[in-house]
Amino acid sequence: MKKQIRALIPLVCMALMCSCSQQGNDTDSRMDMFIDKLMGRMTLEQKLGQMNLVTGGDMVTGHVMSNELEQMIRRQEIGGVFNVKGAGKILELQRIAVEETELGIPLLVGADIIHGYETVFPIPLALSCSWDTVAIEKMARISAIEASASGVNWTYSPMVDICRDPRWGRIAEGNGEDPYLGSVLGPAYVRGYQGKDMSGKDEIMACVKHFALYGAVEGGRDYNTVDMSRQRMFNEYFPPYEAAIRSGAASVMNSFNLVDGIPAAANKWLMVDVLRDRWGFDGLLVTDYDVISEMSTHGYASLPEASVKVLEAGTDMDMVSSGYYSTLKQSLDNKAVTMEIIDKACRRVLEAKYRLGLFEDPYKYCDTASVAGKIYTPEHRRVARDIATETFVLLKNANQTLPLVPKGRIALIGPMADAANNMCGMWSMTCTPSAHESLLAAMTKELQGKAELIYSKGCNIYADSTVENNANGIRPIARGDNELLLRQAMAAASKADVIVAALGESAEMSGESASRADIRLPDVQQKLLRSLAATGKPVVLLLFTGRPLVLTWEDANVDAILNVWFGGSEAAGAICDVVFGRVSPSGKLTTTFPRHAGQIPLYYNHMNTGRPDPDAKVFNRYTSNYIDESNEELYPFGYGLSYATFEYGAVSLDKTTLTAGDSITASVKVTNTGHCRATETVQLYTRDIYASLARPVKELKGFRRITLEPGESREVTFTITPDMLRFYNSQLEYVWEPGEFDLMTGPDSKNLSSVRFELK
Ligand code: BGC
Repeated sequence: MKKQIRALIPLVCMALMCSCSQQGNDTDSRMDMFIDKLMGRMTLEQKLGQMNLVTGGDMVTGHVMSNELEQMIRRQEIGGVFNVKGAGKILELQRIAVEETELGIPLLVGADIIHGYETVFPIPLALSCSWDTVAIEKMARISAIEASASGVNWTYSPMVDICRDPRWGRIAEGNGEDPYLGSVLGPAYVRGYQGKDMSGKDEIMACVKHFALYGAVEGGRDYNTVDMSRQRMFNEYFPPYEAAIRSGAASVMNSFNLVDGIPAAANKWLMVDVLRDRWGFDGLLVTDYDVISEMSTHGYASLPEASVKVLEAGTDMDMVSSGYYSTLKQSLDNKAVTMEIIDKACRRVLEAKYRLGLFEDPYKYCDTASVAGKIYTPEHRRVARDIATETFVLLKNANQTLPLVPKGRIALIGPMADAANNMCGMWSMTCTPSAHESLLAAMTKELQGKAELIYSKGCNIYADSTVENNANGIRPIARGDNELLLRQAMAAASKADVIVAALGESAEMSGESASRADIRLPDVQQKLLRSLAATGKPVVLLLFTGRPLVLTWEDANVDAILNVWFGGSEAAGAICDVVFGRVSPSGKLTTTFPRHAGQIPLYYNHMNTGRPDPDAKVFNRYTSNYIDESNEELYPFGYGLSYATFEYGAVSLDKTTLTAGDSITASVKVTNTGHCRATETVQLYTRDIYASLARPVKELKGFRRITLEPGESREVTFTITPDMLRFYNSQLEYVWEPGEFDLMTGPDSKNLSSVRFELK
């Protein structure tokens, strides 16, 4: 131990000496000095060890490569671990790294803290529907406080992949289909996680992922191929990555898919020309899980060759595949790679550790004594509940079925009603579901002494147990007999005045490796819902889902639909807040809901074609449409109802000509014409009428969340500058072009008031 402590002391002293001696902008040179000295003492093997990242296996997303962590740390074979749960366990690993190795270099400790740690917030797709950057930053801050108290210093979030295909389960992890919204929300995550500059005890490193284009996998099938034009990459898919990176994210993870036929991590154009050179990203670049070894399966390169290519493309850390650690020495001997490039990667790993303050205090994240008081606190839970209410989207509310009045007899029916373990959705492996309340429990409490609650499970998730097993992983919902469950549900419904159907996807039907070909409600749940609707009683569908579903039948036959996504550890209380009217729903969709899966990809900011369909109601031959389905979506991007109603005035401009260096102010008056206080998100879109490249029919350019009392009006203004009208031309230059533009405002991407202006 003495020797080990000796090893630690010089490092700590060096870090302190370097950090105390100078101020301000000298941080980088202090860091450089420190790392120069440290690297001067390192062997090649120790450097390669720093570039090696292994999983602890507590939360698994692929084949677990190593279970002998402690030995690997002692042998200085790894620079970081991820998905290890438990402050005590992490402390011990960190202690071994610092006190039982020659160099005493602390570990990066990563984890997928995507929407909360013990206090779980709604899934990211739901969070995006709040359009609330303050809420998202708060969510990320609380996640960082809880994760850091538990020893984690690096989170693999935000995921900013644009996705226009709801079959892809990972749509749940992102901010939806819009590049502008994605560019505003991603930085909010980064600010929340990294805080001031990652030096605080509760500030952790963010990781922007998955660079790039992972959300565009063909057929919505996870890990599948991607192919797209560069023009589309730059205009439609890259903006959220760039924005999150420019907001200061200190690390980036590359993606599994091909880009231009080359696995992303090995794609030099993508990683060097775009990420490092064009966007100036100088932080830590890590592969996704096992990416390097999968390159041979891709038909691209053997492990040694792939390791060289990925390293040359600027990736510093190898997650799980051990390609760097096991092959680069040989490649160096063979002159297939240079020491300079290995040094560069190792340096970036050490820089990340330095910036996190790990050299000054390797145990800053391992305060085991105070963990309990920092996680899942009443305050964090209250914030999570409030935020959850902002994410629910009211899709339909005929005859003001919602909010429910707590009286009479209310039937709560469906497999999601008593499934507390399913409320958090995917990537919630760090939480303790047994601590969470089910919707049934929350509603029982809510209605005590006011109304009778009649519960029935109603059905399984799927009729077929094999398909249901595919949909379930660590959080299964116990199965029953389908016919019996239906009979019991109908008996419950027959006694009720109103029926609340808690249906949808189980938590693990979205997220990684959870693609669906049929995105309707699962078979047996549809059957149940049809039977409930046939009673003629008012039916409220509480929809649990990690993706947009096809709800065409439901929209036509159910009285009210409240999409509650997966609302997190406090979802049950939040659902009651909205269902019983304490809070008016305010979420607005960030993905288009199709009428039919055959319309996918269906997104609001599409190109017009030369033959757009002139009328969705009738079939028009030789226009761009379908014989058997309209082009219309069921619910458009930006859509979401409220218990109040909002009246929009016509949009007006202070002038109709915009010139370089100038701006136009657009104003629209919004009035709450309903009977309750409510929040509305006012949206701004533009359309470039003619450009050197065809431009989308509309593009989101701004939004404002406003809360109005009944009868209250607000003049909402937007400032439009030429910069907001830029796009990447065919030379990939970011330009605005003179010409006419439509400017549109309204409550969603469909109901818009429009005015024209000219950019000169
Ligand atoms: C996922 C990443 C995740 C990583 C580590 C991968 O399978 O694609 O999003 O961060 O595992 O758990």
